[in-house]
Amino acid sequence: MCGIVGYVGSEPALPILIGGLRRLEYRGYDSAGVAYLEGGGLSVVKRKGRLQRLEEALQRQYGEDLSGGSVRIGIAHTRWATHGAPSDENSHPHLSASGRIAVVHNGIIENYMELRASLSGLGYAFVSETDTEVVAHLIERHYDADAKKDLLSAVLRTMGEIEGSYALGVLCADDPGTFVAARKDSPLVVGLGTNGNFIASDIPAILSRTREVLILEDREAACLRADGVRVVDALGRPVDRAPMHVDWDVEAAEKGGYEHFMMKEMHEEPRAVRDTLAPRLRDGAIRLDAITIDAADAAAISKVQIIACGTAYHAGVVAKYAIERLARIPVEVDVASEFRYRDPLVDARTLAVVISQSGETLDTMAAMREAKRRGARTLAIVNVVGSSIAREADDVLYTMAGPEIAVASTKAYNTQLAAVYLLAFRLAALRGLLDEAACAGWSERLLALPEALDRILADRSVLQRFAAEHFNARSVFFIGRGLDYALSMEGSLKLKEISYIHSEAYAGGELKHGTIALIEEGTLVVCPLTQAPLLEKMIGNIREVKARGAVVLGIATDSCAKVDEVCDAVFRIPDVDPLLAPVLAVTPMQLFAYYVAVNKGCDVDKPRNLAKSVTVE
Ligand code: G6P
Repeated sequence: MCGIVGYVGSEPALPILIGGLRRLEYRGYDSAGVAYLEGGGLSVVKRKGRLQRLEEALQRQYGEDLSGGSVRIGIAHTRWATHGAPSDENSHPHLSASGRIAVVHNGIIENYMELRASLSGLGYAFVSETDTEVVAHLIERHYDADAKKDLLSAVLRTMGEIEGSYALGVLCADDPGTFVAARKDSPLVVGLGTNGNFIASDIPAILSRTREVLILEDREAACLRADGVRVVDALGRPVDRAPMHVDWDVEAAEKGGYEHFMMKEMHEEPRAVRDTLAPRLRDGAIRLDAITIDAADAAAISKVQIIACGTAYHAGVVAKYAIERLARIPVEVDVASEFRYRDPLVDARTLAVVISQSGETLDTMAAMREAKRRGARTLAIVNVVGSSIAREADDVLYTMAGPEIAVASTKAYNTQLAAVYLLAFRLAALRGLLDEAACAGWSERLLALPEALDRILADRSVLQRFAAEHFNARSVFFIGRGLDYALSMEGSLKLKEISYIHSEAYAGGELKHGTIALIEEGTLVVCPLTQAPLLEKMIGNIREVKARGAVVLGIATDSCAKVDEVCDAVFRIPDVDPLLAPVLAVTPMQLFAYYVAVNKGCDVDKPRNLAKSVTVE
């Protein structure tokens, strides 16, 4: 997500901080800022847009190389917007009420609405729309109430009140020699240097300065001074951890030590899905505060029209199953380039749901405008805050995948599905089809998904072995029924995008109407088998392809024993409600595609002829 760098030491701090942010630029961001102490005063400079703008503002005061003045301590941030559009006000660092405490934050404070309301009640004024600002105020409250005026204790107390994910850097004007860092579910490392110490959300930011790092664990905090670092647990007890020596080069460090961005991004799926779901599933209720559709609006919807391209379109196909099943509204799904030219039946009773990772895909944008022109209400499921589609849609439901760099989309799809379920449950609740108890049940099942994804990723060597045996396949078929068919489309796309192997997704029941003619000795068939009510039918389909010589890889839940006897290999995913299974079952398919492409020696992150964002027709 966003980037954090911090430094305290004997060298000019600003070149280190800005240089560190530059190392994180590859991840994408929309604004940048820095807070530092000089002559007893705390200064904050922040700018929307490129890092260059921040640097220019600082250069006017500190010279071309930023080494003027006497700044020796500071925290810096590049923001990828989540709460509130990209703007100077929403960029970090954020200040406490008195302006004495500055905070940079990565992650999402899930209970920030409650905290913001109670702080507002106490007279605190907010200058941004971010979730982070509550953290600055809370730290200051605890700091002011503490006779010892200990910043670390104030941060630990605040950690006890905030829920969600965070990596924090905190600077206080009262102590020019110290700053504090803390983390939970968002990465943060401490760098140990000879002329000072550092924090960074990602190792590349500090790699040119030190290779000795302490990895902070969840709910730990650190107090950094020029001459040392003290790490404590949530109760303030000292943590004794040996530093790790990083021998990665910058390129490997950018990929978090993984060989490719695609693998790194798949490993971010549990975090991304949690960040998309958890803030909206509080106390068993589904809260989509940013969506203005009320019960009367929901009752009036006669049709949901989904519009998207590529992977986002495949998320839309899953959405059709979910919305129709839960909210009982007819759903049509179109690829954007078809929708805009087919004279579609859309009117004021249509809810057009537009799905896009980038929020900039030209066909999707044009199709959304067409739907609007015909009177539809528009709702966008988008990953990039403030993107064109997000700005033009009537309502926006953001996915919290964070920046995706690999051209082949992975974590964005899992989070699009998470968002689609939230929307389906919300529409169902508004239409009186889902009571509180049912909502609570679904909420619990949704919140279990990130942990299940963790296990799938940990078990990936099974897929690595299978891919090593089959990467020479000329053609691969993905076959499924129901949601497994919707999912197969994405599995097939992933494989063809990065491995250049011809592949097709087919509905199991459709096999005998054509595709079965292509099955011969050794043909590879991948079957997601997560839809219990359709399992017998799928087993029948598998027998049909096996009888013609196919090799079958099944993807099935733990308790689905039946499929062992018909498949050549089975990858197991944790038991999950069939409706939610695509969020989990796509990951083995992404991993399989990845390992096939690696075995073939393909350029995994930059497949030929493809672009990450398609802004031309
Ligand atoms: C391109 C990308 C795909 C993506 C599609 C739609 O083709 O390579 O990964 O799914 O565009 O992009 P969007 O940003 O609208 O989701």
